[in-house]
Amino acid sequence: AQSDRESMFILNEYARDYFQKTLHAHPEGKAIGLSYFRERGLRDDIINKFQLGYSLEQRDAFSVEAQKAGYLRDYLLKTGLSTSGENNQPLYDRFRGRVIFPVHTLSGKVVAFGGRILKKAENTGKYVNSPESEIYSKSKELYGIYFAKNAIIKQDKCFLVEGYTDVLSMHQAGIENVVASSGTALTSGQIRMIRRFSNNITVIYDGDTAGINAAIRGIDLLLEEGMNVKVVMLPQGEDPDSFAKKQNAESFKRFIDSNEKDFIRFKTELLIEEVGDDPVKRAGMISNIVNSIALIPNTITRSVYIQECSQLLNIQELVLINEINKIRQRVW
Ligand code: CTP
Ligand code: MN
Ligand code: MN
Ligand code: MN
Ligand code: MN
Repeated sequence: AQSDRESMFILNEYARDYFQKTLHAHPEGKAIGLSYFRERGLRDDIINKFQLGYSLEQRDAFSVEAQKAGYLRDYLLKTGLSTSGENNQPLYDRFRGRVIFPVHTLSGKVVAFGGRILKKAENTGKYVNSPESEIYSKSKELYGIYFAKNAIIKQDKCFLVEGYTDVLSMHQAGIENVVASSGTALTSGQIRMIRRFSNNITVIYDGDTAGINAAIRGIDLLLEEGMNVKVVMLPQGEDPDSFAKKQNAESFKRFIDSNEKDFIRFKTELLIEEVGDDPVKRAGMISNIVNSIALIPNTITRSVYIQECSQLLNIQELVLINEINKIRQRVW
């Protein structure tokens, strides 16, 4: 007999096909969904590759169709594709009037969906996502990993972005070694998935306060997991998608190449403005950076960063080494 998990994957595959067909062949899907993607400048090859779709506005369009096709209520509820008010009430759809982003596992199975609202200023969240389930744990998946893994191996490097559309726009610009943490805090499980293919990661989060703070938190976890961490700061208010759309692929790639900094430079440049000449604040900044360096497990890598920190901040290496040894003894 099929396991629950298998049945859920089969249903998700059906749903993926249904949403895709709706986007390309249903009048509402074409008029609303497909034109939305086109207005955002997404090319057809990207729309097709990532299997993007559309969910109709009618509240039970998918649930009715799926049940007609023989899919069981139990699995419609378990995958979160459908919900029902109370027991035995008719099912209605989780995703209504949204463009759909299927989320794939490393091996290409559809574990979940994200749905984006099309009109602004509605009192529902911009994105609705599949709920956690027997097959889906948000903190374990990385959006785009299935389409990125070969490129990550080939380039020996992975870009980490925040959102669905950032992954799509980077692919469209010819950068395929990219995954998204999908707006949640990065986890060590996600980092280990990347680490199977490369130790080198470049974080390109949104150029806003939330993005910068998430990057700072992410950096420490990445260092702890032994990754070599670089960061690209985007201009204020831009994310990889919006910024890529403002230029051609070549200039976007050039920007990334020339603005990539290792995490110490990123932190230093970020903090140096608020610190100024104040010695107390300066000491605070140094200990902030030193704390990050102390997380690096490899002794040689750590000492390379100690050297850089010493030069960049004009502090004796020995002082940094002593401090880092103290921190490491405290923690380990
Ligand atoms: N996200 C989510 N639920 C929300 C908001 C965000 O799941 N209510 C996730 C999505 O994966 C989203 C990512 O966090 O792609 C980044 O959020 P945000 O920057 O707000 O959205 P964008 O990806 O930039 O989406 P868009 O460009 O379509 O506005
Ligand atoms: Mn994924
Ligand atoms: Mn954001
Ligand atoms: Mn964004
Ligand atoms: Mn965006």
